[in-house]
Amino acid sequence: MRTQLSFASLAGIETELLAVTAIDTQTAKGPEARPQPVLLTADNAVQAAAAAVLSSGEFKAGANETLLLHAPAGVAAKRLLLVGLGKQAKATVHGVRSAAGTAVRFTKPRGIRELVFALPVADAIAAAAATRAAVEGALVGDFDPDTYRSDRKDQSVQSFTLAAPANSDKTALEAALAEGVIVGESQNFTRSLVNEPGNKLTPRILGQRAAAMAEEVGLKWEVHSTEKLHELKMGAFWSVSQGSEEPPALIVLRYEPEGVSDGPVLHPTDKDPSAGTPVLGLVGKGITFDTGGISIKPADNMEKMKYDMAGGAAMIGAMRAIALLKPKVRVIGIVCAAENMPDGKAQKPGDVQTAMSGKTIEIINTDAEGRLVLADGLTYAKQLGATHLIDAATLTGACVVALGMINAGGFSNDDATWAKFDGALATSGEKFWRMPLGEEYAEQIKSDIGDIKNTGGRGGGGACTAAEFLKVFAEDTPWIHLDIAGLAWVEDSKPYIAKGPSGVAVRSILEWVRSY
Ligand code: BES
Ligand code: ZN
Ligand code: ZN
Repeated sequence: MRTQLSFASLAGIETELLAVTAIDTQTAKGPEARPQPVLLTADNAVQAAAAAVLSSGEFKAGANETLLLHAPAGVAAKRLLLVGLGKQAKATVHGVRSAAGTAVRFTKPRGIRELVFALPVADAIAAAAATRAAVEGALVGDFDPDTYRSDRKDQSVQSFTLAAPANSDKTALEAALAEGVIVGESQNFTRSLVNEPGNKLTPRILGQRAAAMAEEVGLKWEVHSTEKLHELKMGAFWSVSQGSEEPPALIVLRYEPEGVSDGPVLHPTDKDPSAGTPVLGLVGKGITFDTGGISIKPADNMEKMKYDMAGGAAMIGAMRAIALLKPKVRVIGIVCAAENMPDGKAQKPGDVQTAMSGKTIEIINTDAEGRLVLADGLTYAKQLGATHLIDAATLTGACVVALGMINAGGFSNDDATWAKFDGALATSGEKFWRMPLGEEYAEQIKSDIGDIKNTGGRGGGGACTAAEFLKVFAEDTPWIHLDIAGLAWVEDSKPYIAKGPSGVAVRSILEWVRSY
């Protein structure tokens, strides 16, 4: 998709389709309160072309509601598409992101290949932020997961023009557009990885895809396998991969900006993390297929477990965006990729594994494998110099039970680090809800035979005990854990995004990194 800005008069732009947003300005409530849709453009001709339909009551400007007009009078565009942003009080840049996605997904199946989207003009919507969000939304909306259909028609929108008022700060909007392209394409890169089935994307191939991307954007990279796992004594990571014919991949991506010193690397117990040069460690769960292992999963929905590498793919996508946006902070991305399979060589419930940190883990359930690979990933990130850690994983079904598919789970051992992540959410527009850690949860994972066990047993709180398990390996290093099990896969198509991989967490992780 080509993306560009136009500062021409809206009514004069010749195009197949012109999309304009609208809000509902009705503040009264109750059955008598009819919606009062208002277009977010200052263009009088466009206003006039839509006046009749707006007063008809047919279009209520609800969030992502659409209405198409052909041959609008006094407007050069062949079609005028109205896209709702919802109630005026709730109209935000995040609504603009969705509205742009909605416009693209409206356009695609109609065989229309170009569209002009009018940047909403409203006091509450900052122009540069809305520009970036609109481009992100358009790119995300353009993605469809049907890559292996023989009759796949390439219906991608080829040209997306954002039309902004002539008196805009052009330099600022051009920069915002360029940023939106990087972020949207990085999120789609993550989605394209998550979409791949387990037979097409093994740990080794995930490593190759990450390496190819790293070459393209100028990241340093290494992809290791079995030998290195043994050398580093990654007993927890290896235990997951030992039941598969497919070798594991330890993927390391490094972003080292010029002019940012290597140190002094903080001691993890340093009371003031801002005192030294931070090195951010991004650790992702890369289970390319999760059968559950010997504690095998039921057949129903097992095919979905190809997306169990979504946390790893989010880190790879975030590293891509980081390499292109060049924040002034060192970042190390680590993806622990393996296939969780039942086999004669697979680990068994009751086995005891020694993690890279030296901690011993009693395996209660081989399906709780994500925390095992992440345990060693977190330890390795620290060994490579990370002073702050973030991990992302489709870790627990319990998190989906707790938060549904609305919020992803977030955990942290450090309020200041979480506060930065919370700030990042304001830009990313993604929903993460902070969940509790605590001594009582730690009790639940104590083992009789070793240091800890890999499930919390009958006590419930599975998302929290899983996070508590990871905390044992983060130790005193400021750390955030993101459980994205409920949001990494969109179950039903929405007006602005296709059913399938969502690419959740890429934008939030990126903004968190940029906050350092
Ligand atoms: N990959 C799953 C978690 C998952 C569930 C992701 C649903 C996406 C959707 C994870 O490896 C797993 O199987 N977790 C178990 C842990 C249990 C055995 C303690 C779970 O959640 O049931
Ligand atoms: Zn599992
Ligand atoms: Zn899993």
